[in-house]
Amino acid sequence: MNSHVGNPFADHDLVASYEGWYETTGRRADELEKQLLDGLLADLPTIDTVLEVGCGTGHFSRWFEARGLHVVGADLSMEMLVESRHLSGLPFVRARAERLPFASRSVDMVAFITTLEFVADVGRTLSEACRVARKGILVGALNRRSVLGRRLRNRTELPWTSARLYNLGELKSLVKHAAAEYEPRISWRTTLWPGWRKSLALPWGGFIGISVTWG
Ligand SMILES: C[S@@+](CC[C@H](N)C(=O)[O-])C[C@H]1O[C@@H](n2cnc3c(N)ncnc32)[C@H](O)[C@@H]1O
Repeated sequence: MNSHVGNPFADHDLVASYEGWYETTGRRADELEKQLLDGLLADLPTIDTVLEVGCGTGHFSRWFEARGLHVVGADLSMEMLVESRHLSGLPFVRARAERLPFASRSVDMVAFITTLEFVADVGRTLSEACRVARKGILVGALNRRSVLGRRLRNRTELPWTSARLYNLGELKSLVKHAAAEYEPRISWRTTLWPGWRKSLALPWGGFIGISVTWG
């Protein structure tokens, strides 16, 4: 039985096939996204601890760990968390992005990878991340203003029908607003999925990466 009616990521079939996507259809996208995030992380001040909110099966939590970071994953879907616990020994907690059960400034960085598209309240979610993070936040998101974004918006099945995609300008103003009191520095890149190897400073690539740092 699904424990969270309304969250498509509580669906057992979706959860069961989720990691498999990264091994097959999603392999190329995964490579490009990680390359892009790697570049953004390399430019950040020293980061030791990361909270990945909306960690799903822990795919990116494990990647953060492989980069030498101490990671905690959080997700609303118990079904996703069960899967994440099968796949690694990392700590995972059930939590809602809009109300994180973590003390203020308790981790260096809060990360969202393809999660802001699915939360109920994106403004509240980003404010919570800025409260909990000491040094900054990292966002990976699908670009509404891209070929990929147009394709996804035409999909007629879950989880895509429940997604709210953003373009670069919208994401930048959301993160700027949430982190306004910290006078943040913002960097961004996109991947030109599916064709390009390098991430670029062009606003219409399929996947947007934004780092927001302060202090
Ligand atoms: C597209 S998946 C991304 C999973 C993972 N970050 C990845 O890229 O493989 C989105 C995840 O966000 C979670 N999610 C959606 N709304 C949430 C909320 N309000 N609080 C916490 N997690 C949420 C879903 O349960 C799902 O696991």
